[in-house]
Amino acid sequence: MPKATLLLTGGLGYIGSHTAVALAAAGYDFVILDNGSNASVGVLQGLQKIIGISPEFIRADVRDAQVLRDLFAHRKFEGIIHFAGLKSVGESCEKPAEYWDNNVIGSLTLVREALNAGIKKIVFSSSATVYDASNISPLREDAKLGTSNPYGTTKLVVEKLLEDFARSQGLQVVSLRYFNPIGAHESGWIGEKPSGIPANLFPYVMDVATGKREKVSIFGDDWPTPDGTGVRDYIHVMDLAEGHIAAWEALSSGKLKTHQDFETSCNNESRRGTNVASSCNQEGLFFACNLGTGCGTSVRELIEVSREVTGHLIPAIITSRRPGDVAAVWANVSLAQTIFGWTAKRKLRQAVEDGWRFKSQQT
Ligand SMILES: NC(=O)c1ccc[n+]([C@@H]2O[C@H](COP(=O)([O-])OP(=O)(O)OC[C@H]3O[C@@H](n4cnc5c(N)ncnc54)[C@H](O)[C@@H]3O)[C@@H](O)[C@H]2O)c1
Repeated sequence: MPKATLLLTGGLGYIGSHTAVALAAAGYDFVILDNGSNASVGVLQGLQKIIGISPEFIRADVRDAQVLRDLFAHRKFEGIIHFAGLKSVGESCEKPAEYWDNNVIGSLTLVREALNAGIKKIVFSSSATVYDASNISPLREDAKLGTSNPYGTTKLVVEKLLEDFARSQGLQVVSLRYFNPIGAHESGWIGEKPSGIPANLFPYVMDVATGKREKVSIFGDDWPTPDGTGVRDYIHVMDLAEGHIAAWEALSSGKLKTHQDFETSCNNESRRGTNVASSCNQEGLFFACNLGTGCGTSVRELIEVSREVTGHLIPAIITSRRPGDVAAVWANVSLAQTIFGWTAKRKLRQAVEDGWRFKSQQT
């Protein structure tokens, strides 16, 4: 008997597919719903090799209310992990309407249909981009919120939407604020495969290592950081995936359910989760939590480790800072440790090795 059956929207994507592996390993059943806009069904073959069965897959869009209605009428789900969405900061500045439509309308449609079908538990893919650029790292969940691009705004708006539904409809939400996932499953059979020019640093570095791209641009070496380059919190994608299991188990076990329990279990950390149970609907819960390593790594360090692991030169040039960038962003991870009992286990080097294995098997 599986522990529960979960719907994974966007489950063919980078984080969703790795979470599928972690769910299978932990004894969960799941169905993947994905419109294929940023993933291929080839991911299903990779998943089959790793977990031994081909996962159930529905090609559909989360904005299609009728598809969701039909699905929920025929299948019972204990909860949803909602990955589906668009994720490029740069693209969101060029096409804000697509981001609002996909990320916000998609989430609203999904939540409305889920609640109509009696599904109340949802784990949402949020992002560290919801934190205001003026905050000093490490970032706690109660740091000032604020965004500087349409992508980040859609993530913050969806958090607010989920919180409103928690207050009024009894929705129970864990919103996971991811820092910078990198790497791949250790088998190398699934990994990050962006279509077009990678928007994130690590897949770009891997492209340069294979010779697909000429050089990496480092956007500024005059930041107030130890080596002058930007510092981020890079987390192995399998650690991130396992964080979803820990979050789901905290949510589904009722550990986060009542205000009193919540305060007792997390002591003075309680200010950082917003428990709305007492405010209106007794069941409702909105709990935001960082998933990161708690360690910062500079761009230069990431490139250096990538050079060592791949054995390739990986040429890099210094260019000017990008508007809106900040010097250093990394997570305070004590809430996830205290409440979920989860902590990132894998080192940066392993993430680079696993990411390189995936990349090498693709080329
Ligand atoms: N990768 C990161 O660095 C990062 C960081 C913070 C947050 N996130 C968030 O995590 C989630 C997953 O990110 P990822 O890196 O796996 O991205 P991804 O693009 O690899 O995966 C997203 C998946 O959702 C699917 N999808 C998109 N719109 C859809 C829709 N309307 N209906 C159904 N499927 C749809 C895509 O085909 C894709 O398979 C996203 O919501 C993203 O914003 C990602």
